[in-house]
Amino acid sequence: MAKPLYYFNGDQTKANLDFPHLGFDYTRCPYRFEAVYEFGVWRVRGLLEDNQLHLPEGSQCVHYGQQLFEGMKVQTGADGKIYAFRPRDNARRINEGARYLCGAEIPEELFIRGVEEVTLANLPFVPPHGSGAALYVRPFWLGVDDNVGVKPARNYIFRIYVTPVGPYFPGGFGPDQGKSFMVSKYDRAAPHGTGHVKAGGNYAGSFLPTLEARSEGFAGAIFMDPAEHKNIEEIGAANFLGFKNDTLVTVDSPSILRSITRVSLLEIAEKVYGWKTEERLINLDELDDFDAAACCGTAAVLTWIKGITDPKSGRSWEFPYDERWVKLYDQLTGIQTAKVDDPFGWRYEIK
Ligand SMILES: Cc1ncc(COP(=O)(O)O)c(C=O)c1O
Repeated sequence: MAKPLYYFNGDQTKANLDFPHLGFDYTRCPYRFEAVYEFGVWRVRGLLEDNQLHLPEGSQCVHYGQQLFEGMKVQTGADGKIYAFRPRDNARRINEGARYLCGAEIPEELFIRGVEEVTLANLPFVPPHGSGAALYVRPFWLGVDDNVGVKPARNYIFRIYVTPVGPYFPGGFGPDQGKSFMVSKYDRAAPHGTGHVKAGGNYAGSFLPTLEARSEGFAGAIFMDPAEHKNIEEIGAANFLGFKNDTLVTVDSPSILRSITRVSLLEIAEKVYGWKTEERLINLDELDDFDAAACCGTAAVLTWIKGITDPKSGRSWEFPYDERWVKLYDQLTGIQTAKVDDPFGWRYEIK
């Protein structure tokens, strides 16, 4: 069971943090949620104060990358309530990963209970409405065992920590906030490998490409399809979107992560605005015919792209600020923070 919580000023008191100026950085919050899988059953350890992990040295997560994580945001709505956004989709995605990495799936109700408990336990760290910040929720899953062979673990740790964060790309969403990206010569995932699941190993391999892009003055790297390097895959921890004539086009590929933000934006585009949408391969050269570009994800929200450069071909593309991104951004963030109705049932009320 949850430990008693000791915030003497009442649970609505906010932590003494400069919420409007937070970066996308880690702040240690008082509580994390943990469950362990042993002898074939999940057991809830509940809320812990210790932010350290204690693992067997032979653990598969340490040696063989049997590890998964998720990321979502909890926000204070305009109505003062605390909301998560589509947390069951994150639960389903981590379990798709657990099946692929041959480990124990997390019961959806356990996942949701963890998100709720850890949020409520750290309530003073949930940024106030209008601060531009959010409580980033980071569930993760580790294969742990006394082990040496290359085989799946018998035991698992499921932990969720939270941390208040500001925007991933600082500066908000305005005409002067477009970002430029560089096409990378590296791949983040193999053509039919782990790219579609949120396994930690996919991300270590993106450090170098991202650092190289940043050292050239770009906001990040664009990955191309790993088989032929012809089609756009995704951008760091965000999916790609673009407008070609009147159609919102996004990428369909087995080696990208299916962004929950992207599928939400597609649904908003179709059902709220009546726009045409497509999910398909996007050849890099097809950018000639695109009149707007953007990337999206939990961290990036929706960020418009003003430039893409491909050092290999020497080609570059420029895109204008487009009002259609503003419409999508306002609707998505409006639903997340209860500023507009949620016809899709995506808001998940925690308190
Ligand atoms: C590789 C990658 N692509 C895309 C995304 C965006 O996905 P979502 O919108 O579900 O956060 C993420 C973040 O989770 C990611 O890590």
